[in-house]
Amino acid sequence: METLPSASGLEGVIAAETILSDVDGEAGRLVLAGWPVEDLVARAGFEDACALFWTGALPDDAGRAAQRAALGEARQRAFARLPRLGDALDAADGMDALRAAAAHLDGDEPATLTGALAVFAAAWTRARAGLPPIPPDPSLTQAADYLRMVRGEAPEAAVRGLDAYLVTVVDHGMNASTFAARVVASTGSDLVSSVVAAIGALKGPLHGGAPGPVLDMLDAVAAPERARGWLAAELDAGRRIMGMGHRIYRVRDPRAAVLEHAIEALERSGLAGARLQLARAVERSAAELLAERHPERALKANVEFYTAVLLDAVGLPRQLFTPTFAVARSVGWCAHVAEQRRVGRLIRPASRYVGR
Ligand code: COA
Repeated sequence: METLPSASGLEGVIAAETILSDVDGEAGRLVLAGWPVEDLVARAGFEDACALFWTGALPDDAGRAAQRAALGEARQRAFARLPRLGDALDAADGMDALRAAAAHLDGDEPATLTGALAVFAAAWTRARAGLPPIPPDPSLTQAADYLRMVRGEAPEAAVRGLDAYLVTVVDHGMNASTFAARVVASTGSDLVSSVVAAIGALKGPLHGGAPGPVLDMLDAVAAPERARGWLAAELDAGRRIMGMGHRIYRVRDPRAAVLEHAIEALERSGLAGARLQLARAVERSAAELLAERHPERALKANVEFYTAVLLDAVGLPRQLFTPTFAVARSVGWCAHVAEQRRVGRLIRPASRYVGR
């Protein structure tokens, strides 16, 4: 067998051909199912994005209503399941709870998964606070109902902000959780198993686990003038700055600008407080320090940096940031599973034995 150089992080390895998204890391461009992310967020809500990824086209009014109904019914079915989840939602970590609860699902419909994850994430948060779960309202959009199931209310400006976030992160090329979902799908396994694997991959701090720690960092920095000193001490201690750096982007993640824009709208509605100014100051200092310490590698803000500010501004607790990411990214996972099934080929790379 031909011996190829090994690439332990699989950088640059093309593992699939896809029509779902295109990440141009040099130019800082993201295209989602044919739409530049900025355009898609400007014109599409979460239900539209679901239809786009699951059927291939943005829906008309009837299609949008059907998508909304499908997600609403899925949330209701998931809520009815809550008493049968055993201790799945007792987990201390939201992603552990989501993984355990999702494993109870069955069926092959993307809406079942995406609707259910919102219910499980909301119920887990309420349970942690000693509160009973709030039943879904299937007449609402997923963003509005999710917020309502978590907070008991869904102010319009916050719903718009959350909806923009959910659309922004629906898919992103061959990221680790999507790859995990596709590997499982390639074996002929089922959709639920693929999504459970993807949840496990998304949990890690190098992938989807960063936004909570980003907010912790902003709290610790507390004031823009303290940013440089605080960040330098972190780097001196050998720790990574959460929300900075990306495997693919060599420029600022384009989703950071989309989310910043959405946060500005929240600010105008009086929802974002002073966090945006602080975040911008921390980002500036972090980018400067990382450029000094890693001149060979461009390390700029990634999507998680402003995710933290946005999700905090819409009133979600920080423990719920990564589960909320899963609610959105499940749209892409399901679409990739369908695409992988059409390919119909087992993903099975090789390893090089180097002895014991
Ligand atoms: N803070 C400090 N240093 C960082 C860094 C960060 N956020 N991101 C990368 N680096 C450093 C690495 O330590 C490494 O230095 P070394 O060569 O001296 O060991 C160098 O930059 C290259 O990094 P590398 O590990 O090759 O990058 P990667 O492509 O494997 O990692 C991430 C990409 C996203 C995992 C990485 O940037 C990171 O850990 N970021 C913080 C976590 C985060 O925000 N995750 C969300 C991703 S969307």
